[in-house]
Amino acid sequence: MTDTLGARFPGLASMARADLLGPLPTPVEPLVRLSRMTSTELFIKRDDRSAQHYGGNKARKLAFLLGDAQRAGADTLLTVGAFGSHHVLATSVHGARNGFAVHGVLVPQPFTPHVERNLLAGLGAGATHHPVRYAALAPAEILRVMARLRLSRRRPYFIPHGGTSALGALGYVDAGLELGAQIDARFVPEPHAVYTALGSGGTAVGLAVGLAAAGLRVPVIAARVTPTLVAPRPLLDGLVEKVVHELHSRDPRFPRVADAAKQLIVITDESRGAGYGEPDEAAQRAAELALADDIELDPTYTAKAFAEMLRHAEGERRGQRLIFVHTLSSQDLTPLTSRAPALPRWTDRYRRELR
Ligand SMILES: Cc1ncc(COP(=O)(O)O)c(C=O)c1O
Repeated sequence: MTDTLGARFPGLASMARADLLGPLPTPVEPLVRLSRMTSTELFIKRDDRSAQHYGGNKARKLAFLLGDAQRAGADTLLTVGAFGSHHVLATSVHGARNGFAVHGVLVPQPFTPHVERNLLAGLGAGATHHPVRYAALAPAEILRVMARLRLSRRRPYFIPHGGTSALGALGYVDAGLELGAQIDARFVPEPHAVYTALGSGGTAVGLAVGLAAAGLRVPVIAARVTPTLVAPRPLLDGLVEKVVHELHSRDPRFPRVADAAKQLIVITDESRGAGYGEPDEAAQRAAELALADDIELDPTYTAKAFAEMLRHAEGERRGQRLIFVHTLSSQDLTPLTSRAPALPRWTDRYRRELR
């Protein structure tokens, strides 16, 4: 598969990728009704359709991560996320389709119906879950599961939370270059800003590097939904540097855009609301408005980022041109949930305590 990154920079075409994306590029569509309502030109990049079996932002990262796991000769993937993590689910779906056994260490979050559905879909994809009572216990559980897998002669490959690493972020460097090419080809006019949710940070970092490498100076408004400690600014800046260094050393034609990319990332904390995974009114309104245009958002990430874009569209950026990068998979999960076993007993306690 040749993505925009490989096509633009031939030295990067030989990096391992699992063949799970497509068709690419994902379209950019106008949000006609909401544009009229806000007097602002709103567009949506349909990354919800980035892959056939499970799309969204995690699929783009996993193309590189699973490619690396295949290259390393692994047979098992181990990753970590919250109970309803889209990343753990995406790893379960694409891992299984690529012949890996998948294990996920899971940390608590509010037990909403969306979370419950993701858990069930992961079980339907054949994943093994290892819940822990507190997030602080996750590192020890990861070490324990890793050791057990090795003892049973499996060859595990660890993927960090959110799929965010210098390698995983390349999926979004590619998305940024892809959007740059769509702007160049006049499929969409150059925007004043691009919006995305900020969790572990790989999406915003990759987008900023990709847009900067495409020669665009468009701010990436990253709506933070996780505690700042998960992805503090210095960590994101460090990731930008690592990504650009990695790409430039593999293909010297990749421009040294670390400083420009860092300047493009604008983190906002306004949409976080009551906390990670806690639904709030602005996100609820955003989800209802989007649904009227057939766009489904999740309460944890995309509804909060969309709410941020609407807040700007109705305020300081009224009349501008804004693009929302839709990072939630829109694939139907019913084939997975319908073949899933019943949710395990450990979920009962959390359903009572964390609703
Ligand atoms: C649907 C969705 N959107 C956005 C994000 C944030 O992406 P990142 O972790 O790369 O910041 C996540 C992360 O889990 C997600 O699940």
